[in-house]
Amino acid sequence: MSAGISLPHDAAALHVTGAARYVDDIPMPANCLHLAFGLSGVARGAITHADLSKVREADGVVAVLTAADLPFENDVSPSIHDEPLLAQGEVFYHGQPIFLVVATSHLAARKAARLGQITIDPCPAILTIDDAMSAGSRFENGPVIWARGDANRAMDTAPHIIEGQFEMGGQEHFYLEGQAALAVPQDDGDMLVHSSTQHPTEIQHKVAHAIGAPMNAVRVETRRMGGGFGGKESQGNALAVACAIAARQTGRPCKMRYDRDDDMVITGKRHDFRIAYRAGVDDDGRLVALDLTQLARCGWAQDLSLPVADRAMLHADNAYFLPDVRIESHRLKTNTASATAFRGFGGPQGVFGIERILDHVAQERGLDPIDVRRVNYYRDGQTTHYGQEINGFHIPAMTDALLERADYAQRRDDIAAFNAENPLLKKGLALSPVKFGISFTLTHLNQAGALVHVYQDGSIQMNHGGTEMGQGLFQKVAQVAARSFGVPMELVKITATDTGKVPNTSATAASSGSDLNGMAVQKACLAIRNRMAEHMAQIWQCTPAEITFTDGQVHGPAQSISFQEAAKTAYEARVSLSATGFYKTPEITWDRVKGQGRPFFYFAHGVALTEVVIDTLTGENRVLRADILHDAGTSLNPALDIGQVEGGYVQGVGWLTTEELVWDDKGVLRTHAPSTYKIPACSDRPRVFNVDLWDQPNHEDTIFRSKAVGEPPFMLGISAWLALADAVAACGDGFHDMNAPATAEEVLGAVERVRDGD
Ligand code: MTE
Ligand code: MOS
Repeated sequence: MSAGISLPHDAAALHVTGAARYVDDIPMPANCLHLAFGLSGVARGAITHADLSKVREADGVVAVLTAADLPFENDVSPSIHDEPLLAQGEVFYHGQPIFLVVATSHLAARKAARLGQITIDPCPAILTIDDAMSAGSRFENGPVIWARGDANRAMDTAPHIIEGQFEMGGQEHFYLEGQAALAVPQDDGDMLVHSSTQHPTEIQHKVAHAIGAPMNAVRVETRRMGGGFGGKESQGNALAVACAIAARQTGRPCKMRYDRDDDMVITGKRHDFRIAYRAGVDDDGRLVALDLTQLARCGWAQDLSLPVADRAMLHADNAYFLPDVRIESHRLKTNTASATAFRGFGGPQGVFGIERILDHVAQERGLDPIDVRRVNYYRDGQTTHYGQEINGFHIPAMTDALLERADYAQRRDDIAAFNAENPLLKKGLALSPVKFGISFTLTHLNQAGALVHVYQDGSIQMNHGGTEMGQGLFQKVAQVAARSFGVPMELVKITATDTGKVPNTSATAASSGSDLNGMAVQKACLAIRNRMAEHMAQIWQCTPAEITFTDGQVHGPAQSISFQEAAKTAYEARVSLSATGFYKTPEITWDRVKGQGRPFFYFAHGVALTEVVIDTLTGENRVLRADILHDAGTSLNPALDIGQVEGGYVQGVGWLTTEELVWDDKGVLRTHAPSTYKIPACSDRPRVFNVDLWDQPNHEDTIFRSKAVGEPPFMLGISAWLALADAVAACGDGFHDMNAPATAEEVLGAVERVRDGD
């Protein structure tokens, strides 16, 4: 049946022909106005004077708004009301919106926005992790500390101590469709908002507050995003709120989309981290004690930084048992764009930390890095540092299977031979696993709703709270609906996410889209199916349990009719053919203050082996081959899941290799366009790319025993960074300090340090 089958993305043909409709493609309503923000040119300071007369006089300008003109709340924060839509007296980062221009065209708005004359009295900006640490600039009062056992005591008796620190950069989401919103005023002050958002309910909520209306006066619709990657969980609020306020004020539809440079300057990115560690290990490289400090640069507003930093702590173990451990997490407040959700949500930073530590252990102790990983792998029945029991842990078996499939032993020898013969090019090979916790750590978010209609002709319309950003959620959930009714996919209509159909939804995030919405849709479908079965049982004089739905037919003990006919007779007999479905994830509990509980319903697993080559004269490098085994449970759609694994891996490699964000000493982001910020292109994919799914059902009762797949494979990209470090190590011996991203410059520097023996 349809769920479990490889089908293309439901909009694949529309994507490749350019026919898929994004917010900016919606036919423009008559009289539509266009918006642009005037931005701060200073990272931190007090606004002493604002002369906007030239902006007001510019061609096409209809209105110019500042904080003082906002009718209700001036806030677009998803967390603690610390993020004004328009700056109020002070600015906190370079690029912060100060005023809003409403004009007759996109270009007119953008041109006018540049004419603002804003005088800002600058004060010293806190830009770096070091600045923030010395100023004590942070969210929450002090660091968050979680511990198990006594890491310091265990360290005292550990045979060997390994210490170090390293840094990893942030990451720009670079969704191909930039942030966009369109607000259309309705009768009686109501507002319809089209938004490119992962979180329509949050847009509804913020717009309602901004226009002084209850939530029932605001309807938000999202058909699809051209990528979100976490960057549209909260970062679309400003555009939607600006459009709604301007639409309310002018009575005209208002649209806003950021130009790429503005998008990169204004919106938040992945948190960059510094990780400092002290590890006690035994002769086999087994971790007996670990003291870890994670420093996260969060930017000027809190946004989602606390749960992101929590997730980094929760993934500090990755796949390894940490007996005595202490983790200290600093959430640093800086005068830079407010860092936000990005695929993995802090998980990648936590996982990269322990992977790099294990490599350090292997190097320093002269052990094979894969052996060090194996001795530290969890076993079922052990508990994590936050008290969750490990069950159904596949990584040891997946490691064996992957090394076998990828011909590891032979290739390790071949690479050693290659490196011995080649003075200039060096190859590297590395494995890294991922264990990723599935569920929102904020427990109440783990709920979803659905609305399903069967029409009298047997066609089905399906709606749920999840959003489509290219990941294939809509198709997977449609497959669940088709399987629930036993009908072909053609009968199921996929519709836009709409807060008027399913209320109070969570962001499509934490990879939980298909887990949550798949279950909610299944429940709605089964409610209708049961009513149809009862009706047919009456007609056929049997019990409802004897009625089955397969192959587009409804079968009784002796007769069958088509699903369409069954729908028609049910309608004529006045049987309701519409139902809602609701699901909440069972069994999860979490105390974030203590850092204890079962935050995750289950874990998804993966292993990757990556081979790279570096040019030791230039530092340039390339991923030659990647072999991946990934656990998607019983996949809902293997083709889409493999697509997620490939895309996630490549995006993870981009984060740790070419994607470098550079702020200057004034807090100006210098890498604000594709000319200076390099995401992976098609030609950067591994030349040999073998991706397989590990075909085992989820041991927990998820939708058809599948597993979430959106974020976990991102972390498999870490193997590429480790492989680069392995290639660097082949240039000399001894541990080398290399940070991420491993750009050509960074690799070259590391090669030189290894050769110089420091
Ligand atoms: N895949 C595509 N093509 N585009 C995206 O924006 N976002 C990722 C992942 N895969 C993303 C993607 C992120 S950050 C998450 S949380 C999940 O998809 C969300 O969707 P899901 O819960 O349906 O997996
Ligand atoms: Mo994904 S970072 O949870 O949107």
